[in-house]
Amino acid sequence: MNIAVLGSGGREHALSWKFAQKWGWDQVFTLPGNGGIPNSHKVDINDFEAVRGFCEAHAIELIFVGPEDPLANGIVNYFREKTDIKVFGPDKTAAQLEGSKIFAKEFMKKHGVVTADFKSFQSLEGAHEYATSKKGNLVIKYDGLAAGKGVFVCDNMEEVEIALDELQEKYGKAFPFLMEDKIVGKEISIIGFTDGQNIRLLLPSQDHKQLLEGDLGPNTGGMGAFCPVPFYNETLKKAIQENAIIPTINGLKAEGFDYKGVIYFGLMIGENGPEVLEYNVRLGDPETEVILPSLKTDLSDLVLACLNGSLSDLELEFNKGYFVDVVMVSGGYPKAYQKGFPIYGLDQVEKGTLIFHAGTKAENEVIKTNGGRVINVVTQAPTLEEAIQNTYKEVAKISFEGHFYRKDIGRRSN
Ligand code: GLY
Repeated sequence: MNIAVLGSGGREHALSWKFAQKWGWDQVFTLPGNGGIPNSHKVDINDFEAVRGFCEAHAIELIFVGPEDPLANGIVNYFREKTDIKVFGPDKTAAQLEGSKIFAKEFMKKHGVVTADFKSFQSLEGAHEYATSKKGNLVIKYDGLAAGKGVFVCDNMEEVEIALDELQEKYGKAFPFLMEDKIVGKEISIIGFTDGQNIRLLLPSQDHKQLLEGDLGPNTGGMGAFCPVPFYNETLKKAIQENAIIPTINGLKAEGFDYKGVIYFGLMIGENGPEVLEYNVRLGDPETEVILPSLKTDLSDLVLACLNGSLSDLELEFNKGYFVDVVMVSGGYPKAYQKGFPIYGLDQVEKGTLIFHAGTKAENEVIKTNGGRVINVVTQAPTLEEAIQNTYKEVAKISFEGHFYRKDIGRRSN
């Protein structure tokens, strides 16, 4: 079966790698891919005609959409209307669960998904009064997709003013956003595959979003991840099932959404138990780089079960042990950084270590940096501590000018 994976990051390298285990690299095409993904092809994935042209020319039977933008732009509707190619992901309406924070929160409230109280705004009118009533202790979220740059966690009114000024500068006088109560606790990512009626969950994982050790510094696209999460015990699992997952699936059914795809629950475990912070309608990055290696079940079997409506017959199997991913980034990231530096040591890592490329390009057979997040290094071990140590041993073999990585991935696991 010829498969097209859309996207260019570490997530898409992990996806292509997982599909290729069954189908071989010659049947797995990645658009546009990157310098480390075999069979990458430079196609603009938001140009649906171009994607269709490529897929028809290469007899693609299944498309897996990696990032959120093509889903929010309606790629699933496009392919279902115009072709017989199977495409995995929610349609444009359902993709608003990620594309609009207000839509998602209204969905949660309507269907009994536990989430923090919030108020939505279409302009700044009333925003300062509301924030003052909360003493500035809240989270501000721009309504639309903002590549991780639309969320502001505030502790006081000064931070609220800075956030609103930044949004106003970017989006003008009137723009949709929401303010929600801030929950303090431990974050966990729960990612499932759904056919719109049933769901199968992958192992729970944790992302490390801030640039610096101790969760300090600016937010990034993710500096590392690990799975499974030691504190995910039976009590927590039951609470997440009852308060987040079951009501969400019931909501998808009640709304009649066409949702055959991935659903990601970003949860915070605070003093009231787990609450949903956000949905994503795609796999997380860098969570994918650990949860796919931990999945024993073939990925195409899982995807086809969702598309064919036979997910209830499929039980997932997982590999034992812990998986840790450290992301190596360009110096200066997430602010300005330089590209084009050769990457050394990729051929020095142990057999069994997984290297998932993100911002890389191949130039005359030399792999060079080509983005902020550059390389994911992933290892597996029987204990989390061993997996952490193994991963850092492998990271130490790889270098490029100005490279940087967090030294504490996996260490805030309980
Ligand atoms: N790791 C968070 C995300 O993919 O949105």
